[in-house]
Amino acid sequence: MQLIHLLLFLFLLLLPGMWADPEAEPQVFQLLQTSLFTNISSAEVSGVALLGDVPIFALDPAKWSIRFHWPWARQATAEGDAEKIMSHSKLFLRNMVRYVHETAQQAQLDYPLVIQIRAGCVLHSNRTSWGFMDVGVGGRDLITFEVERQHWEPLQPSLLADLVSKSLTSKKAVTGVLEHILSISCQSHILTLCKYGKADLERQELPVATVFARTPSPAQILLVCHVTGFYPRPISVAWLRDGQEVPPGPALNTSTILPNADLTYQLRSVLAVAPGDGHSYACRVHHRSLGTRSLLIPWENRSTAPAVAIAISVVLLVATASAGGVWWWKHRKGGKATWETPEFII
Ligand SMILES: *[C@@H]1O[C@H](CO)[C@@H](O)[C@H](O)[C@H]1NC(C)=O
Ligand SMILES: *[C@@H]1O[C@H](CO)[C@@H](O)[C@H](O)[C@H]1NC(C)=O
Ligand SMILES: *[C@@H]1O[C@H](CO)[C@@H](O)[C@H](O)[C@H]1NC(C)=O
Repeated sequence: MQLIHLLLFLFLLLLPGMWADPEAEPQVFQLLQTSLFTNISSAEVSGVALLGDVPIFALDPAKWSIRFHWPWARQATAEGDAEKIMSHSKLFLRNMVRYVHETAQQAQLDYPLVIQIRAGCVLHSNRTSWGFMDVGVGGRDLITFEVERQHWEPLQPSLLADLVSKSLTSKKAVTGVLEHILSISCQSHILTLCKYGKADLERQELPVATVFARTPSPAQILLVCHVTGFYPRPISVAWLRDGQEVPPGPALNTSTILPNADLTYQLRSVLAVAPGDGHSYACRVHHRSLGTRSLLIPWENRSTAPAVAIAISVVLLVATASAGGVWWWKHRKGGKATWETPEFII
């Protein structure tokens, strides 16, 4: 992996920087909790806390203890209000479980019940922040907490939403604490996490891009640009036709950004072209890890070997690496290979 990254770096082309200032993105800290109440005497609670897309800690469903994903997350949680809040987490969970069972009886709800809670805050780069807390039942939004007003509001027109929002709003001691946690403790916790976890939170992984062609029918070639292994998530992938960006249209289809298992991301952009149309095509990738440079991977549309797509960087690479060159040349001459990638060659 390291070697590929190094090689890609060598062949990065200099293009004008058009990358958004990373400082401008808001930080979101949130707790996601799901509880399953099978019957009147059972409760299974699981939960996870995230800063952006980075897991910070998880709730052990058996012991209701907190498991930190990083040593620095534990350190950060020992500071400020976080420690006090954590030390009360079991009490909060016990009260929540009791409240759900009481409400289920009062409103004559049928078990099993699934309750989801999402709570946290958004911190903007100008240091303003806002807190949020939403509760859902059975996969539907039920109520939301209006932090400044310390007021719960129904999110659906139902007796249950009315009942729960009124009863929770009347618990003034609880709403006061919630308001403090969501508007003050939460944002200072984000800043503490950013201080202790800087290296992991600001980690950048270079995208690895591959261009290849598919021919679903003789009249059409689908050029595929597959980009993977990058972090953070924001990325810009475009197709260039004769050096000009191909505008959005029916021929262009870019997937959503999908997660990989190692907290990196991938996506693909597919451009439909006519065989032998005489244009040159290249896939261009902008990503924060590349700085102001961008990755440019051309697809070569040759009349003699129309199906061979290969990055110029690879051509340069084989010129200096004779073994790889022979390998590539054999494949190309054999006309078997339909696509080549830097990874393939190395
Ligand atoms: C309640 O549900 C739990 C977990 O599913 C189960 O182990 C227990 O036997 C159930 N209790 C009753 C009274 O049904
Ligand atoms: C801070 O930034 C957010 C988002 O860009 C904006 O909505 C808000 O009005 C800003 N607040 C101040 C005080 O500038
Ligand atoms: C884009 O790709 C998706 C997934 O492969 C496919 O379902 C969809 O039909 C495509 N859209 C167009 C306009 O080609």
